[in-house]
Amino acid sequence: MTTTAAAALPRPHLRRQGTATQLLVDGQPFILLAGELHNSSASALAYVEPLLDQLIPLHLNAVLAPLSWELIEPDEGRFDFALVDGIIDAARRRRLRVVFLWFGTLKNAMSCYTPAWVKTDLARFPRAEAQPGVASGTVSPFGAEILRCDARAFAAVMRHIADIDAARHTVVMMQVENEPGILYASRDHSPAAERAFAAPVPEPLLAHLRQQTGTLIAELDEIWAATGRRAAGTWAEVFGEGADEVFMAWHTARFVDAVAAAGRAEHDLPMFANAWLIAGPGYKPGQYPSGGPVSKMLDVWRAAAPHIDVLAPDIYDPDFRGNAVSYTRSGNPLLVPETRSDTAAAAKALYAVGRHDAICFAPFGIDDLAAPHPLGETYRLLRDLMPLLTTAAGSGRMTGFLQQGDEENWTAEIAGFRFRCRTAKPMKDCTVPGGALLLHLEANEFIMAGRNLILTFEPLDPAQRTGELVWLDVGDYRGGQWVAGRRLNGDETAHGTGVLLGDALTVCRFELHAYR
Ligand code: DGJ
Repeated sequence: MTTTAAAALPRPHLRRQGTATQLLVDGQPFILLAGELHNSSASALAYVEPLLDQLIPLHLNAVLAPLSWELIEPDEGRFDFALVDGIIDAARRRRLRVVFLWFGTLKNAMSCYTPAWVKTDLARFPRAEAQPGVASGTVSPFGAEILRCDARAFAAVMRHIADIDAARHTVVMMQVENEPGILYASRDHSPAAERAFAAPVPEPLLAHLRQQTGTLIAELDEIWAATGRRAAGTWAEVFGEGADEVFMAWHTARFVDAVAAAGRAEHDLPMFANAWLIAGPGYKPGQYPSGGPVSKMLDVWRAAAPHIDVLAPDIYDPDFRGNAVSYTRSGNPLLVPETRSDTAAAAKALYAVGRHDAICFAPFGIDDLAAPHPLGETYRLLRDLMPLLTTAAGSGRMTGFLQQGDEENWTAEIAGFRFRCRTAKPMKDCTVPGGALLLHLEANEFIMAGRNLILTFEPLDPAQRTGELVWLDVGDYRGGQWVAGRRLNGDETAHGTGVLLGDALTVCRFELHAYR
């Protein structure tokens, strides 16, 4: 597309389609089949360029690249956008879209990406205090100066992106800060934080809780219910034992929102905040960043951060499915900016897109992967399926399956059939765990694409008893067009009763019928 043609198209934005939220790039729905670079990889162009070359045979269509405040504003008020320009240019030459990650005040709940003039001036930029009087490695989000300076720097970045990219849309989304919150304590005890903690809970949060009563995320509602759902009071009065985390979530989200708002005023791209997840039951705030957008705090973040479109889980936990589901509550769309970059990522990508209409899937440390890799094959297929996937998104015509253990099974009801899907093999025998997407095309025709799963079907109509394959072809999609290969039957379809996916990525197109 020419620059002039792209300039005439709307800026990247989000829109609803049925139950899905989609990213639109150049006016078309676009799934970010991406990867996130290691934290330091994008700090030198000569280093990152060859890494971007590696992503091409893996069929990524986008890269998530850090932008660190310390390199953008090395001296206060002196901005250096060489890396922004260089990464955008390098991505364009490889036809990659870019999501920048703003490593500002908060990076993994620390402030190690702040410029030296911030890091060394604790009087102007007070630190959070896990214990009163003891400064931590995190600049306190309660400081007025840190917010002003971070927002000013982020706004300058966005203004620069607007200057060089408003007509090209290479940069399609922004992550604001990285895994925000505070570690080693459930809340900040710096003097400014203490004052805020003694103040009444802000009315906008209380109003949100009141409006959402009945649909609040259960974990938050439980915290509020324990005090009798008090309508006003201090944090401790309204939220009792959960007060520290709700307080930190509100103020951390307000901080991130103010930075996002300053950036959007210059160049209005969709923005998200990512979460360091709670590692399991029994983990307390402070063992994970307290105040971050963990799933139980989604409602608080929604109320506090209207300039953040999506709250995004960094899913390293083995329970990818459970975490994905927990981030589709409160109307939040699934966007996975980080997950393990192993072979299982290939199965997770199919599940995230098929089951949750994910906006983005991005294994972390993508620089470590080299083609051939199962993720590359999967991304190639998903790119060729993109028109079908984005049309089906939010319509109930598509689902996904993901194996996380041995002998698992699931059901899904689509287009008049109940599908039963089960794992084909124990995890240890799979090169890639079972993972697939299932998509209804039209009439009784479907596509199933993936690995190591077995699918059977039965009609939902009680007047019919049996579902049967009319035909099943393996093949491929190229540029959205089906290219049929072998016709499978007999042993290869359990005699017309199932779709059998083995260790190699397989795409099947089939027709069903039902009889009594
Ligand atoms: C999660 C962070 O968000 C990333 O930036 C990176 O530090 C990874 N953890 C490291 O595994």
